[in-house]
Amino acid sequence: MAYLISMFNHKGGVSKTTTAFNLGWMLARKKKKVLLVDCDPQCNLTGMVLGLEDLESSDSIQGTKDGKPLNIREGLAPAFESRPSLVKPVDCVAIPGNPKLFLMPGHIGLAEYEVTLGIAQELSGSLVTLRNLPGSLRYLIDLTANAYDIDLAIIDMSPSLGAVNQNLLSISDYFIIPMHPDYFSTMAINSLANVFPKWRAWAKAAGETPALRAAEYPFPLSSPKFLGYVVQKYRPRSGAPSRAFQKWIDQLEDGVNDVLIPALDECGMVMASETYQKAGYSPDEPLLQMPDFNSLIASSQEHQVPIFELTAAQLEQKGRVLKITQKSQEEFRELFSAAADRVIAAIDADHN
Ligand SMILES: Nc1ncnc2c1ncn2[C@@H]1O[C@H](COP(=O)(O)OP(=O)(O)OP(=O)(O)O)[C@@H](O)[C@H]1O
Ligand SMILES: [Mg+2]
Repeated sequence: MAYLISMFNHKGGVSKTTTAFNLGWMLARKKKKVLLVDCDPQCNLTGMVLGLEDLESSDSIQGTKDGKPLNIREGLAPAFESRPSLVKPVDCVAIPGNPKLFLMPGHIGLAEYEVTLGIAQELSGSLVTLRNLPGSLRYLIDLTANAYDIDLAIIDMSPSLGAVNQNLLSISDYFIIPMHPDYFSTMAINSLANVFPKWRAWAKAAGETPALRAAEYPFPLSSPKFLGYVVQKYRPRSGAPSRAFQKWIDQLEDGVNDVLIPALDECGMVMASETYQKAGYSPDEPLLQMPDFNSLIASSQEHQVPIFELTAAQLEQKGRVLKITQKSQEEFRELFSAAADRVIAAIDADHN
């Protein structure tokens, strides 16, 4: 059974996709079998894995091959389009260069299911024709994860508070909140603190609704837990965040401490403090804090390789310049490695 970890913040551009890709890659380097699940109709994660040109010509856009679904939307289609066939596992992309890493491609058309899912979730089972929808996402991800013997499924989400995200967060086992140190992320903490308890209350009620439990794709009684937050993109000055960023990082930490964690705790979404302790961190400090990737991000996107695995040839650098870049890559490797260790240790501790 795979654990589902969702990357969620309704605020856009805070590094959800970038973190999913780099952290997912690192978790797979640590011998976990990882499935990246692109649940954002923007398909940025799929683009990061396949490359833009390949994305446009890829089979995954087409939908099916030999009767097998090739993206998340096609995977869900039997449920959402009331087809007589059952949901089948998605034929995933094996990511070159990392034998333990797979992608369930996204599709722009997933957005078309948003409204129907919203209605299904509002009615919570009272309309027979819609009762298969709320459980179908978890069902599809589990079915696909089982087919690939996956340990961890990392779910990249769109920046919204829509029905698909409500569902994904609610069916996850764990979630990570990426944030950017600025005024808007500080504002976002307040809205997140309002939204999580509402979603949690809905999911509990849905999980106990007989019609949803008896559906073809039963809505699971999940209990999503906060793994931590990620702060990204600060500009380092002598290795530390510059003063302006530091001010926003401090405010984020205060917001997480004073507003977010109490709200999550109240609805049972925080693990026991010993669990974090065993994993060597505390939920009120960033799970991962990463500096600006600078020019590495462009090479990473060009070659579909994480920041810390770009080769000299891919970087197109030599001599002293290359040495400096490699030193910074090493720092990123250590940061992602430490974060991956925390994730693995926290999940282990949560289950023992
Ligand atoms: N540490 C970093 N250093 C430099 N650039 C970064 C860093 N992290 C992310 N970026 C860049 O910031 C932009 C936003 O990142 P990303 O797409 O991962 O955010 P997102 O939260 O997934 O956005 P969306 O809400 O649109 O899905 C991208 O152009 C990405 O390349
Ligand atoms: Mg994204």
